[in-house]
Amino acid sequence: MKQHIAIDGPAGAGKSTVARLLAWRLGYLYLDTGAFYRAVTLHFLELGLGKEDLERGEIARFLQSVRIDICPGDETRIFLNGRDVSRDIRTPEVDALVSYVAKAPEVRNFLREVQRRIALSRPSVVEGRDIGTVILPEADLKVFLTALPEVRARRRWRELALRGKKVDYKVVLKNVLERDSIDSQRSCAPLQQAQDAVVVDTSHLTVEEVVEKLYIMATEENHGGSCGCLFRVL
Ligand code: CDP
Repeated sequence: MKQHIAIDGPAGAGKSTVARLLAWRLGYLYLDTGAFYRAVTLHFLELGLGKEDLERGEIARFLQSVRIDICPGDETRIFLNGRDVSRDIRTPEVDALVSYVAKAPEVRNFLREVQRRIALSRPSVVEGRDIGTVILPEADLKVFLTALPEVRARRRWRELALRGKKVDYKVVLKNVLERDSIDSQRSCAPLQQAQDAVVVDTSHLTVEEVVEKLYIMATEENHGGSCGCLFRVL
């Protein structure tokens, strides 16, 4: 059994849903690292800060008033200065700012050690953008989940609609593309596929199919070259 599983990929590729179900099936800890970046972003929004303020390089000062506590579980519950913000971090306002916050090295340094410590505390499935490359480079299985941008935007749009947030599909697509671009071009821990990651394109797969593939990879003794190819969905 692989003890530490890293799942990376762009917005809306299905990481959260798949990682949560996989962790549940394996009896592992599930850790959503995006929730940390979202909580810091919510804090900045509540302080009335925008992109321009972040660009002025005062982030370290603003971070002094942030305390994040996390309660890993089926759903990662996240607390910002003692308040449960698990729902409040999933809004279009947070979506619009989070990648600007996440590209700041101060923010990444602030979050890296705590994410790594939690991830290594138990067998785990950890999802994000830099898990296979920075947070858990020693992970036993690395997966890079991806899907066509339109498919990812549609999924995100549906998710928001189910939560009662009516947003134009085009706005969601624009946000997904913008975040992909900022996340993959930043200099500090960019979104990129680890060299030893298995790529799974989820565009035409159901959640159950993806979870099944990952479960097989996680539980087989050795998923070397040929098995990796078997699961490479192009
Ligand atoms: O769910 P979705 O993939 O849309 O986003 P998320 O995982 O909640 O992450 C939100 C944002 O946080 C991403 O767009 C990245 O800018 C940032 N992030 C990151 O930089 N590194 C991570 N390990 C996780 C998230």
